[in-house]
Amino acid sequence: MSETRNANGKATPETARLILEGREYELPVVRGTEGEKAVDISSLRRTTGYITLDKGYENTGSCRSSVTFIDGEKGILRYRGYPIDELAAKSTFTEVAYLLLYGELPTTIQLEEFSTFLNESSLIHEDMLHFFVGFPRGSHPMGILATTVASLSTFYPVPEVMDEKAERQILANLISQVRTIAAISYKKSIGEPIVYPSYKLRYVPNFLTMMFSSPVKESDLDDDIVQAIDLFLILHADHEQNCSTSTVRLTGSSLANVYAVISAGISALWGPRHGGANQEVIRMLEKIRDEHGDGTEYVRRAKDRNAPDRLMGFGHRVYKNFDPRAKILKEACHKLLKKPGMIDPLFDIALRLEDIALHDEYFVSRNLYPNVDFYSGLILRAAGIPYDMFTVLFAIGRTPGWLAHWREMYHGEDFRIMRPRQIYTGSTCRTYVDRSRRR
Ligand code: ACO
Repeated sequence: MSETRNANGKATPETARLILEGREYELPVVRGTEGEKAVDISSLRRTTGYITLDKGYENTGSCRSSVTFIDGEKGILRYRGYPIDELAAKSTFTEVAYLLLYGELPTTIQLEEFSTFLNESSLIHEDMLHFFVGFPRGSHPMGILATTVASLSTFYPVPEVMDEKAERQILANLISQVRTIAAISYKKSIGEPIVYPSYKLRYVPNFLTMMFSSPVKESDLDDDIVQAIDLFLILHADHEQNCSTSTVRLTGSSLANVYAVISAGISALWGPRHGGANQEVIRMLEKIRDEHGDGTEYVRRAKDRNAPDRLMGFGHRVYKNFDPRAKILKEACHKLLKKPGMIDPLFDIALRLEDIALHDEYFVSRNLYPNVDFYSGLILRAAGIPYDMFTVLFAIGRTPGWLAHWREMYHGEDFRIMRPRQIYTGSTCRTYVDRSRRR
């Protein structure tokens, strides 16, 4: 609980006063380390009979967390206290994964050990390869990923009492094997033999080799592409209590096994209002290109409530100024897409579209800015990643974040099953009518 000092310098608990039906209640105020404020309503129903109603949880803090800090008004994002732009410029995805999971940046030896451990954990059980034959041709790889990740629990059963060693292994399995599963699902979708992970390669080169190498063609690893994918993964690694992370916490709060928990997160991420948007952005840019427009007509449709289109990659529940990840990715696009052979006309369309929207009263008045998905698809396109795999790449990046939140919750002092309430709006009590008398 937070405290204030009275005139005599004495600390008193900070409270909020609530008046309901003429009675006054004091509710504790809680402050975070960055000054965020919350009214703790844990005792509200017990003491007043009331609950709170908060559509879309816009004003609801579901937990206390020390993983990631966001200030949506100022466009700040930090993992474990480190600003995202510094991590993007100086770190690697593996290092960031370690930071998110264990709270500190690893030493050189810790990083080396972690990296090796991820590599040693990257093979999936050989019998799982049968699954990939069973999925219908053209299956969305997110469906394959969610299913296969859930099935890991049958091959690597989670012990009833999880000790540190078992937990460490499960975390490494998930971070490493989502990448293997993603590459296998791609190889199967194009009818090529799978490529196994290699102990010689780091996280991203390993993934790109599994995706693009074949018995008749060694993949040509472009350093700029490797760096851009690493950056993409860093920027997607965590984003506090978003839809998929909240799903992970909610599912995990039932003590479901952690493979099923991450599978639930993957399913939540799939939707076009969340991680599925990166794929939709490219569809939108192609539509504009094919209509030979400059984007003005698309923007008009996106503003029309009766039209299904939204400006994909625009708007965010938390960022009301700018999304710092979008800024970093835009710069990365500038760097990557000017390279010979990588120039992409869709980037110019994206820049124009952003400019139109940022000067349009509709977007300005609603604080709608490009989000992480607006430019990320262009990076993935340049790397040769097929559209259907875009959200899968997001899932690979987000896995350490989901696991960090799961771990924080699982070991937390106030761990309880999550169970929101509702305001019931259906029929009041009715008399049962026998079937023969129903009309
Ligand atoms: N295009 C057009 N209008 C928009 C857009 C958009 N991209 N985003 C929001 N709006 C409008 C809404 O219609 C609404 O208008 P109104 O006030 O006239 O009713 C207003 O802005 C507020 O929008 P909400 O949907 O209420 O905002 P919310 O916080 O619930 O949704 C979301 C945020 C889902 C990201 C939304 O902006 C959106 O659908 N964006 C496009 C999809 C997208 O890019 N998703 C990726 C988000 S980032 C991520 O998940 C990794």
